[in-house]
Amino acid sequence: MKALVYEGPRDVVVKNVPDAKIERPTDVLVKITSTNICGSDLHMYEGRTDMEKGRVLGHENLGQVVEVGEAVDRIKVGDWVCLPFNVSCGFCKNCERGLTGFCLTTNPGMAGAAYGFAGMGPYSGGQAEYLRVPYADFNCLKLPDDAQDKENDYVMLSDIFPTGWHATELAGVKPGESVVIYGCGPVGLMAAHSAMIKGASKVIIVDLHPDRLALAEQIGAIAIDYSKGSAVEQILELTDGEGADRGCECVGYQCHDPTGHEVPNATMNDLVKSVRATGGIGVVGVFIPEDPGSRDKLAKKGEIVFDFGLFWVKGQHIATGQANVKAYNHYLRDLIHADRAKPSWIVSHELALDEAPEAYKHFDARDNGWTKVILHPAGTQKNPKRQSTQKKAVRKEAVHAHSPA
Ligand SMILES: NC(=O)c1ccc[n+]([C@@H]2O[C@H](COP(=O)([O-])OP(=O)(O)OC[C@H]3O[C@@H](n4cnc5c(N)ncnc54)[C@H](O)[C@@H]3O)[C@@H](O)[C@H]2O)c1
Ligand SMILES: [Zn+2]
Ligand SMILES: [Zn+2]
Repeated sequence: MKALVYEGPRDVVVKNVPDAKIERPTDVLVKITSTNICGSDLHMYEGRTDMEKGRVLGHENLGQVVEVGEAVDRIKVGDWVCLPFNVSCGFCKNCERGLTGFCLTTNPGMAGAAYGFAGMGPYSGGQAEYLRVPYADFNCLKLPDDAQDKENDYVMLSDIFPTGWHATELAGVKPGESVVIYGCGPVGLMAAHSAMIKGASKVIIVDLHPDRLALAEQIGAIAIDYSKGSAVEQILELTDGEGADRGCECVGYQCHDPTGHEVPNATMNDLVKSVRATGGIGVVGVFIPEDPGSRDKLAKKGEIVFDFGLFWVKGQHIATGQANVKAYNHYLRDLIHADRAKPSWIVSHELALDEAPEAYKHFDARDNGWTKVILHPAGTQKNPKRQSTQKKAVRKEAVHAHSPA
């Protein structure tokens, strides 16, 4: 089968690899029809993780089941399914409590496994024609009869929509509260979408890419371009000097100043300043225990200089980590089904698998207009004319989904 293979820093190629297949009776095999490129892929793409060469990337996957293992009960051939990026067992101590991002059995020695991911187990990714899904009865999210019509929405349930939602859960967002989000990439935009759905009174989002900030404004968020002045000062001004009730970190360890120079503690310290005393901060942007590729001496050891004094005095709380996708994905699926959520409004490109290497280059450069790329390995939806009209309609609906009326 064809798949996107990581060959080294900024070097990915589409080539033939051995077919994915059922390896255990609890597996299913899925023909992938949509698979996204994620900001998390970029940490690997840039050589900023210990990703092994030769591995297939892709953890945001949706498709149709083509084969089921003998021990699979619930999932049938022909089902449309979206796969959480976490590979989890369903029976360990953490999975039992809904903490599937920290499964204790699928990646022994670590908590948490994922498809096509550095340090998260041997599972091959879905930027490929087929994907093997372990513990399929537990992991597959079955999609309703509009699976294909809303495929661009449902594929966001694999990661970024639940992850954005998780950021707001970790921060403790409640109806009527104000929320500040650092990072207006796909994850930050999903955090904004989630905060709106939860009834936040004010959603402020910080980045420096005008195209991304414009998408946030489409759903009613207040955009702050931190290359044009201090984000913290503007947030304090917008919140009567108090700071926002809640803050979300949706950037991660490669956060940078306006010139592009990485400053790994920038967003965390800015969040402490931007959130009110006793407010909550949810951190879904990835931070890693070792970053040998960093120029920062401390960051090489996974450490940052954190303003703990101010954090303590303000009595804030921080919660962190990978999203437990299964804790949210079926509720978010139902919001999409009911037209109350439209995560696809951020999709900028739908491409064939062969176009993935070029797409990685553009998305990595955060080139203007490259917000979110969906690859279609089965080639079913590659019809640019139809897509451009479809996308316009979707964006309009996304705004509607948020309007109080
Ligand atoms: N916790 C999880 O389960 C989970 C899941 C998916 C992604 N992630 C992580 O979330 C992060 C964001 O993912 P994405 O797909 O949106 O990535 P992305 O790289 O496309 O977006 C990050 C955005 O942050 C902006 N940014 C950089 N420095 C900034 C700063 N100092 N202040 C404000 N904005 C800044 C960039 O301009 C960019 O638009 C990544 O670290 C990714 O690995 C975590
Ligand atoms: Zn992802
Ligand atoms: Zn488990």
